[in-house]
Amino acid sequence: LSLIVAPLTGAAFQRAIPDLARLRIEVFRDWPYLYDGNYDYERGYIAKFAASPQSVIVAAMDGSRIVGAATGSPLTDHADAFAKPFMAKGYDLHKIFYFGESVLLMGYRGRGIGHRFFDEREAFARKMGRYTHTAFCGVVRPDDHPLKPQNVRSLTPFWEGRGYKAVDGLVAHFDWKDLGQTEKTSKPMQFWMRALS
Ligand SMILES: CC(C)(COP(=O)(O)OP(=O)(O)OC[C@H]1O[C@@H](n2cnc3c(N)ncnc32)[C@H](O)[C@@H]1OP(=O)(O)O)[C@@H](O)C(=O)NCCC(=O)NCCS
Repeated sequence: LSLIVAPLTGAAFQRAIPDLARLRIEVFRDWPYLYDGNYDYERGYIAKFAASPQSVIVAAMDGSRIVGAATGSPLTDHADAFAKPFMAKGYDLHKIFYFGESVLLMGYRGRGIGHRFFDEREAFARKMGRYTHTAFCGVVRPDDHPLKPQNVRSLTPFWEGRGYKAVDGLVAHFDWKDLGQTEKTSKPMQFWMRALS
């Protein structure tokens, strides 16, 4: 079967929504997210991307099966959660294109699909014409977290190799309930940025 990585649009996108929701839940259960996902919430989140011409969802397909996906949208669509740290640093929110997340089934990792997710979303942001930067964030977990797997590989070298830098002090906080916990807790989310060349 052939692997294809490309933006999903129109009817193909609509058909893929349930699969995309399940994929997010599966991948985010793992370290470092440990997220106990809710199917209806995920469906709603993904459907929002279909409604906006400013947003993109890139899918990795093995034949007709969706095995990975990555999202991008204007940072201003997330202003409630993100505005404060960006404004405190003096950034113009309107000039930043935000990458929501990349998720890929374990068996498909290490074949360059993660790079393709960045290529496609950076190309989309460039085409939109009004962005100077792309950004994304990643959860910061303590090194001695009891659920941290041994031998887990950090994504930091990958992100730095793509020209992204963790911006000092550019941190937002998201709340979610970790697997096995009864209450939501607040997680620091470190932002990474680079200029769009
Ligand atoms: C992030 C993710 C999509 C990357 O996908 P991928 O297809 O394995 O990435 P690639 O094959 O393009 O490899 C990218 C880089 O990661 C590194 N890498 C390869 N395999 C890796 C692995 N198993 N674990 C960590 N890094 C790995 C390599 O250094 C590679 O860079 P290089 O080709 O310049 O040497 C995937 O690891 C994933 O779904 N992770 C879980 C969810 C997540 O943490 N997402 C990111 C935040 S939302």
